[in-house]
Amino acid sequence: MTVEEFFDQVITVRMREDRSSLDIIDQTLLPGTIKRINLNTKEEIWEAIKKLRVRGAPAIGAAAAYGIALLASGIAGDQYDAFYSRFKELKDYLASSRPTAVNLFWALNRMEAAVTANKERDVTAIKELLFEEADKIREEDIQISRGIGEIGFGLLKELKKEGREIGILTHCNAGTLATAKYGTATAPMYIALEKGWPGTAMHVYCDETRPLLQGARLTSFELYNAGITTTLQCDNMASILMKSGKIDIIFVGCDRVARNGDAANKIGTSGVAILAKHYGIPFYVCAPTSTIDMDTLTGDQIPIEMRSPDEVTEMWYKERMAPEGINVYNPAFDVTDHSLITGIITEKGMCHAPYDKAFESLGIGR
Ligand code: MRU
Repeated sequence: MTVEEFFDQVITVRMREDRSSLDIIDQTLLPGTIKRINLNTKEEIWEAIKKLRVRGAPAIGAAAAYGIALLASGIAGDQYDAFYSRFKELKDYLASSRPTAVNLFWALNRMEAAVTANKERDVTAIKELLFEEADKIREEDIQISRGIGEIGFGLLKELKKEGREIGILTHCNAGTLATAKYGTATAPMYIALEKGWPGTAMHVYCDETRPLLQGARLTSFELYNAGITTTLQCDNMASILMKSGKIDIIFVGCDRVARNGDAANKIGTSGVAILAKHYGIPFYVCAPTSTIDMDTLTGDQIPIEMRSPDEVTEMWYKERMAPEGINVYNPAFDVTDHSLITGIITEKGMCHAPYDKAFESLGIGR
């Protein structure tokens, strides 16, 4: 199977051609089962985001955009005010599914802006253009990932001059399954394949990513299928791996980047960054500009999603692996301090500290 064929098999989110429902790959079943499901109601869309059937910041944004377009198409009546008021209720409902990834709010706000900018048009036309706006968000995401990938590929090319396999570590899944194509943290590797590099030129070490195993279930599945040399390790093995000299560079994704460059990503990312600093390994955050939230000044202001205890005590195990009644701490994200980040790769260019100035000079937030 070529990489393109693989991408086609695992398309994260799309609207069915007849626009009757949202079609997603159910990521909770991967890697064992590749199954697509249809989402029709607001409850189904909300649940799919909440339960991580569709996940990863850009994919959540695309799902929300298609979701609100689908739900808006079912609003009865042709009066703009009534339509807009119901649209906002549905938007707020979808926005309550997950708190950390800013792409969810960004995509929903963009969809709302498409409504208000066209309020002079009739409601049928607005419903139509909402589908078009969602398509645009998805199409743009493909180009954004490519842009990030090209810049990351430049870093890989520099490392290739050393003439040996390039060791890359990543955490969680910021891959094709988290976006419309290419991923963000995986985009440099997919671009390398596109440019004719053999998969053996790179060796990607995937952190398992407890508790939801996105690294094991999703990233290692993706990269292995794409023909890239891939190794899976538990999160607590990253330190010995770095010490052994096997890691040349680290690429991670992000769910929200604050104005000062603090970056929220999957729980465990900040630990990876601290280790990378200790061992002198460059640590890059791959960030579509839609993930940069200039209204959030520092990482302290980023809301961190807390998730259910059973993800830690029971999920994936044959039997419960902790005493009944034990307290469980299960934050889904942590924030990597900007001082630990070598660079933030956006589709518009590479950013270095001071990040607020770097973002402004790329026109982010304007
Ligand atoms: O809880 P998840 O699986 O949605 O978390 C995903 C991540 O943390 C990703 O690294 C991030 O969303 C970037 S995806 C390009």
